[in-house]
Amino acid sequence: MRMYDIIEKKRDNQALTKEEIQFFIQGYTNGEIPDYQVSALLMAIYFQDMNDQERAELTQAMVESGDQIDLSAIDGIKVDKHSTGGVGDTTTLILAPLVASVGVPVAKMSGRGLGHTGGTIDKLESVPGFHVEISNDEFIELVNKNKVAVVGQSGNLTPADKKIYGLRDVTATVNSIPLIASSIMSKKIASGADAIVLDVKTGAGAFMKDLDDAKELATAMVTIGNKVGRNTMAVISDMSQPLGNAIGNALEVKEAIETLQGNGPEDLTELCLTLGSQMVVLAKQAATIKEARAKLEENLHNGKALQQFKIFLNSQGGDASVVDQPESLPQATYQIELPAKSSGKVAEIIADDIGTAAMMLGAGRATKDAVIDLAVGIVLHKKIGDEVKEGESLLTIHTNSEDVDEVKDKLYRSISISAGEIEAPTLIHGMVT
Ligand code: URA
Ligand code: CA
Repeated sequence: MRMYDIIEKKRDNQALTKEEIQFFIQGYTNGEIPDYQVSALLMAIYFQDMNDQERAELTQAMVESGDQIDLSAIDGIKVDKHSTGGVGDTTTLILAPLVASVGVPVAKMSGRGLGHTGGTIDKLESVPGFHVEISNDEFIELVNKNKVAVVGQSGNLTPADKKIYGLRDVTATVNSIPLIASSIMSKKIASGADAIVLDVKTGAGAFMKDLDDAKELATAMVTIGNKVGRNTMAVISDMSQPLGNAIGNALEVKEAIETLQGNGPEDLTELCLTLGSQMVVLAKQAATIKEARAKLEENLHNGKALQQFKIFLNSQGGDASVVDQPESLPQATYQIELPAKSSGKVAEIIADDIGTAAMMLGAGRATKDAVIDLAVGIVLHKKIGDEVKEGESLLTIHTNSEDVDEVKDKLYRSISISAGEIEAPTLIHGMVT
């Protein structure tokens, strides 16, 4: 087989065979096929697309390019949740203990990553003592015992995706549905879950800004998951404004605690119940979405979800007393309000820009080795559609530096207030099964 022929075939809009896809993925992972040939193939895929069969085979070939996590020693159906990423997305911190509290095993592999705030692990590490450096055996034992554990990504998962993603980044081929869908799904599948719930975000703060693109990506990922034997569904949710009120690491842990107490922001709570119900049904812990949701709502209000969070923190060395005393989480030195410059209704809170402002405060990392400040961030007091009076605080900036003029300018530019009628955006834009 020759890479040249594979490139030519895709250029001429023909479907690649399983053997051809495996040949190029293996060859590229081993370093036998050069970047320039894979670049040409990626550009051909960008223009000619791939059919459902090719997409599933590309995903499977990337899964097989490295280690695969074996979760079979964990009892029950393991359901994973994946979000395509947004601003202030606290859902994992809430969903893990919440669905575990109704019997769904949660074996979460998580990363730190780059972004506006840290990843799930960074957020959890704002709880004193909490750590994710546990062995694989310990991880499995904890999930069997407590139904929930989080471990840092280890091993050599999907090396083909790492190499291809790097190449796409410099060849203008990131924005391709078959390439994005196979990239995301290969990582989920290699991580060992039996079933997958996807939260595909749409809006200004999302990777897929446009609703039609989000639906197309969701459909592509669900089709791949089901084709390779993992029960998969997707929820399409709004990311035009940040989710919930808190953007920042310790601030989001506090928000997660409030939500697990049944006192969380409305949008965050609703999204957790929507995604959680789907997870509970896929794990066969309820027969219908309605029954699943009732179980989750009950545990938000009877303290069981919160209790599960304490057990989880404690089992990985964390000081669970923060749940009852959130003031013992890292706190920033200064709390600075941002007063509204006019009265009216909040018309826009551009999620991306709020995220950038949080990053300017030090909540996220721009490079892999940057150190993040767990205490800092932003807490919104108003969301789109809310009424606001001139001088009233729109949000609080939690900062360790007194000089936040630049951050304030950024925030003022990302929030608009209008005199007209403004409706809150729809939270759930659709589902794909
Ligand atoms: N996230 C991924 O993991 N892969 C992509 O291709 C795009 C976003
Ligand atoms: Ca939030």
